[in-house]
Amino acid sequence: MYDLSAYLPEHPTPPSIILPWCGKEATEAYQTKAKGRAHSPRADQALANYAIGVLESGGPVAAVSRPAE
Ligand code: HEM
Repeated sequence: MYDLSAYLPEHPTPPSIILPWCGKEATEAYQTKAKGRAHSPRADQALANYAIGVLESGGPVAAVSRPAE
């Protein structure tokens, strides 16, 4: 799970490209840029900076486990 609030203004496209994916499962959107092309390794590195936790499966409202500080 990622908090991209701070990154949105930095993304090379207008925020409108990412905003529809906020709050949702967006793995495929990230992997394809919604047009069948993967992001670069540079983008993967940027993404890692915004990780806030890992979703735990098993319920209509999934819990978020935060990494130890
Ligand atoms: C989740 C939805 C996302 C979509 C649909 C999306 C889509 C796009 C598109 C259309 C471009 C410009 C065209 C192109 O380079 O092919 C782009 C470029 C880029 N995006 Fe995203 N993006 C998303 C999320 C992110 C995230 C979360 C990051 C990093 C935190 C990121 C980092 C970048 C970077 C660094 C570029 C420049 C080209 C590259 O390095 O691949 N994007 N993205």
